[in-house]
Amino acid sequence: MLAAGLLVTGLGACANSDTGGDAGTGGEDKLVLGFSQVGAESGWRTANTTSVKEAAGEAGIELKFDDAQQKQENQIKAIRNFIQQKVDVIAFSPVVESGWDTVLKEAKDAGIPVILTDRAVDSADKSLYKTFLGSDFVKEGRLAGEWLVEETKSATGPVNIVELQGTTGSAPANDRKKGFGEAIAANPNLKIIASQSGDFTRAGGKAVMEQFLKANPKIDVLFAHNDDMGLGALEAITAAGKVPGKDIKIITVDAVKDGMQALADGKFNFIAECSPLLGPQLMDLAKKVHAGEEVPPRIETEETTFTQQTAKEALPTRKY
Ligand code: AHR
Repeated sequence: MLAAGLLVTGLGACANSDTGGDAGTGGEDKLVLGFSQVGAESGWRTANTTSVKEAAGEAGIELKFDDAQQKQENQIKAIRNFIQQKVDVIAFSPVVESGWDTVLKEAKDAGIPVILTDRAVDSADKSLYKTFLGSDFVKEGRLAGEWLVEETKSATGPVNIVELQGTTGSAPANDRKKGFGEAIAANPNLKIIASQSGDFTRAGGKAVMEQFLKANPKIDVLFAHNDDMGLGALEAITAAGKVPGKDIKIITVDAVKDGMQALADGKFNFIAECSPLLGPQLMDLAKKVHAGEEVPPRIETEETTFTQQTAKEALPTRKY
């Protein structure tokens, strides 16, 4: 259904927010988009939420926003609420890859198009959603690994790597691990000696890095699946009397401002970018699928990589 007035709201308010027509100020019907966000676990996620909310406002779309607090059951509940409220389009960023078929089928049966944004699902039936807008996480992991292969090409002995994985079962954790692992296979000296989830949070990164440092006397490299875990790990490394960026080289993914600052300061060594600025493209897609237009099944975000030098150059104009 179409409703009047821009509204950014949590689910509690959603039930009362459907005006069902042009009762608002503009007198113009607005597309209603139900959006289920993963949570607020990282700087990336905060920037993504801001991008979605701002873009909805600019596109004149009524946004029903729900924060799932990193729980799949909350996302399923939110999607069912959106279906019940007969929103025009549903978009969500799935916290994990598996377990979505039933609820996606419910949306399809209700005639509500679904857009995946940021993260993918592993459903075999691709007709359950219209498109997937987001990064190539395998490529991000591969770029991180390729940088390390080049950086360590003259190493004559083992290079010990520890890995801080993202949320267990999430597409970025699965894919970045895969891409990185495939890339470092090019140099048999590169060995992942420990790998554990830090759930994409600073606190998780710090706690797991503390354990890694206690259990492993020689750590040469940290690969963290996002900046926030890398930033948490920095604290643990410093507290252990080691110099981040020198004693332990740090590679991360995202390139949010705090991560870029750490890179420019020489505490990180390399970042593969993952852009959170998906809002404008998402709104465009929502309008198209609502109008019944064909959209490409996969839309990949354009991204780059940063070294310490390029981070210094990019920081002053960095948007997030
Ligand atoms: O899905 C994107 C990932 O989720 C980002 O790399 C990470 O920071 C976030 O929490």
